Amino acid sequence: MLKDLIDIKSLTNDNINLIIKTAQDFKSGLLQADLKSTIVALMFYENSTRTRCSFEIAAKRLNMITTIFDTKSSSLSKGESLEDTIENLTALGVEVIVLRHNENNIINTIKRKIKADIKFVNAGTGSHSHPTQALLDYFTMLEKLGTVKNKKITIVGDIKDSRVAKSNIALLSRFGADIHIAGPKYFMPEKADFEGVTFHKNLIDAIIDSDIVMTLRIQKERLEADFGLDIEDYKKDFQINKKILAQYAPNSILMHPGPVNRGIELTSNLIDSEKGKTILEQAQNGVFIRMAILNLIANSKKQEAIYAS
Ligand code: CP
Repeated sequence: MLKDLIDIKSLTNDNINLIIKTAQDFKSGLLQADLKSTIVALMFYENSTRTRCSFEIAAKRLNMITTIFDTKSSSLSKGESLEDTIENLTALGVEVIVLRHNENNIINTIKRKIKADIKFVNAGTGSHSHPTQALLDYFTMLEKLGTVKNKKITIVGDIKDSRVAKSNIALLSRFGADIHIAGPKYFMPEKADFEGVTFHKNLIDAIIDSDIVMTLRIQKERLEADFGLDIEDYKKDFQINKKILAQYAPNSILMHPGPVNRGIELTSNLIDSEKGKTILEQAQNGVFIRMAILNLIANSKKQEAIYAS
């Protein structure tokens, strides 16, 4: 039974295996669940397409009652605190909050402050944690490779600021993946925080013979505002195109959590090629992973009953 989903660190390997198995069973049609008495609120303080829509679709497929909490038109703008907002949502009958927020430790902070007994699912917080993305990426890798143990998985781009990269590294290292990271030095994290991960300054050294090549979005706005660097510098050194992938990692699976900036981290014709198809499979798998998480969090007893029937 999962109480909350806050980060990868707080999941056991058994929890992760159960989430993956449940997602597989939802995807294959073996498992169905009906959580029609459970109300879930989607609170997104940052923009989102994949995570928000797939949580909403997942909740609706489980027959949950969904309420989309619009942060811009809510009474937060009248000075109500987030904690009081959550106490009020709980009073309205909300049992699960799916939260995206720009603060790293926001869920633990809220939980310490509120009295309400409400469950939280992290939909991406700060630059540290995006556990449901890592779980759907792991699910996609297992579909493609069967296991990540001893597989070379290379993540390219802004690792330092990426919650996707950090949650993936936390998860994949637990299951024996050989993790490599590459990017310009201003996008690389402190080595001390990533024991067991191989750091590369050069794209080719990093991706050669990889089983998985995962690229990340480059935040153009931040590059220009904070670093004053030309995006062309990044493209010259770290953009992946069809030729590079075919030459150095021909058997690799190309992944990207989205949103993709075409023509920056990946060339447009690579995205549109056969190799680029996995990116949409990741998005599709997001629905099944989020169904599994909502089901396990909201009502594990009901899941057992439906398996048994
Ligand atoms: N991968 C991801 O989190 O995408 P969104 O920001 O569109 O949800």
